[in-house]
Amino acid sequence: MIQPIIIAIDGTSASGKSTTSKRVARHFGYTYVDTGAMYRALAWYCLTQHIDLHNEKAVGAACRKWKTSLVNVDHQVRILVDGYYPEKEIRTSETSAAVPFVAAVGKVREWMKTLQQSCSQFGNLVMEGRDIGTTIFPDTDFKFYLDAPLAERSKRRWADGVSEDLAKRDHSDSQRATSPLMIPLGAMVINNAGMTIEQTSQLIIDEVQRRLAARKH
Ligand code: DC
Repeated sequence: MIQPIIIAIDGTSASGKSTTSKRVARHFGYTYVDTGAMYRALAWYCLTQHIDLHNEKAVGAACRKWKTSLVNVDHQVRILVDGYYPEKEIRTSETSAAVPFVAAVGKVREWMKTLQQSCSQFGNLVMEGRDIGTTIFPDTDFKFYLDAPLAERSKRRWADGVSEDLAKRDHSDSQRATSPLMIPLGAMVINNAGMTIEQTSQLIIDEVQRRLAARKH
């Protein structure tokens, strides 16, 4: 059986992962997967169920219990909760503040790993997150890690109209015990300070094409 191609794009918050990943996916005709949206959906679900976010056991139990499904709409994977797509709800500041707590729970990460690996049912993927190249698809030949200085990333968030403590988020993403954010082995590291989204995307597209061509020889 031919294995799907997985392009793993990890990196810090506001490093341009989402826009870049969508552009790369569109270029190759692959399906785009936003794994952050999956953690956000769980955080939103916990809030709606009044689950104490500081209670790891309760959050882990909620994750085992909730009814989810994945659908592929126009080459983008969506997570549905009880058949509902909480598109807006997962982007509120309340949900954003809640996500790091659920993302730090070991049982949640185990559950998400199975779910995210199952996305290969949709064929070739561009998957963005924090641990795609290290934990979810560590064997892929296509790993990228995006970053930019904190000041520049904070400016980008402000420009998007979002006020967020990125230093705090960086800290919780990189210090958690399970699957912390780190540069995957073999990843191409792109510090995109001063670069446009087009330039970052093109760099990835060129590198993927180079690695695909190298496979044929
Ligand atoms: O990329 P994002 O801002 O939507 O991610 C939301 C949160 O989820 C953020 O705190 C990092 C976490 N996350 C994670 O731990 N692992 C992933 N694969 C994706 C996101």
